[in-house]
Amino acid sequence: MFVGQKQTSNQIVYDEEQKGLHEQIVIYFSHVVAENTPKGLAAQKFAELVEEKTNGRVKIEVFPNGSLYSDDEEIDALLRGDIQMIAPSVSKVTQLLPEWQVLDLPFIFENYDDVERVFTGNVGKSLLAMLEKKGMKGLALWGNGFKQMTSNRRLLIEPSDFSGLKFRVMPSEIIEKQFQLLGAKPIVVPFDRVYESLEKHEFDGQENTISNIYSKNFYQFQTYLTISNHGYLGYAVIVNKHFWDKLPKDIQQKITEAMQETSAWNLKQSKKQNEAELAKMKQNPQMHIYELTEKEQKAWKQKFAPLYNEFEREFGSKLLRQIKAE
Ligand code: LMR
Repeated sequence: MFVGQKQTSNQIVYDEEQKGLHEQIVIYFSHVVAENTPKGLAAQKFAELVEEKTNGRVKIEVFPNGSLYSDDEEIDALLRGDIQMIAPSVSKVTQLLPEWQVLDLPFIFENYDDVERVFTGNVGKSLLAMLEKKGMKGLALWGNGFKQMTSNRRLLIEPSDFSGLKFRVMPSEIIEKQFQLLGAKPIVVPFDRVYESLEKHEFDGQENTISNIYSKNFYQFQTYLTISNHGYLGYAVIVNKHFWDKLPKDIQQKITEAMQETSAWNLKQSKKQNEAELAKMKQNPQMHIYELTEKEQKAWKQKFAPLYNEFEREFGSKLLRQIKAE
């Protein structure tokens, strides 16, 4: 299979139960992270559930690690119909739908329960509904975990520790502004280039979840890790709308059920996985790991406060009010 090649999404297979041939619907699900991560494992679980619930009428082929498309290509590939399903980070969706930046606001969530309430509540539903006008059907929001700060220069404790450093960021204006408020220089780099760029010292630091830092070995070049929980890395699970609308209703129903089960599992599993991998990193004598105190976190929150006003000025207060209420 080649990148950019038009995929067929149906094939004829033998159905054991019905003792006959039927057309199997094949869904290509492309994502950029490692298999053993909250998104990688959820994609796998979802594939198994769909196959089970549809008695093999639908097959989900999962392509991890950006093996088909990198994160700066996958949305276009989905819209072209080359693949049928993706789960980009919320930050990457903000390029199409800037209102989604609400989920990128620093310290918008206090803990995993907040995330679950918002992702499965009205805010989640209204954000997913916005995808329709872009030719996509949003099936769910999945989570990876809280983002932490890493650097190869020094421990990042006070906002002033960021001054003059270059940070890799995902493409989200609000995240760029977050680093500018800290006096740092944000540089947008696709996920699959982060390891190589860190190795070449193209920037001094980055923000990510423990799961991504651990599974992609970023810590090999980033020995200072601050547990700041300053942002949340979530995913929009999306299918091509044209493809979705053509699926038989009973298949849509089964896929929706499998997605609900997977999403509930993912939100619990992601917390456990990030905690377990942090414990493993703590055993690495090369790593300097520091957890921000509440007082230090407060200083960061004060620095980031203008972003909330800015968001409200641009997009109104509705989403922010709903998140508070949820
Ligand atoms: C990143 O670019 O750091 C993340 O969005 C990658 C991912 O999909 O978790």
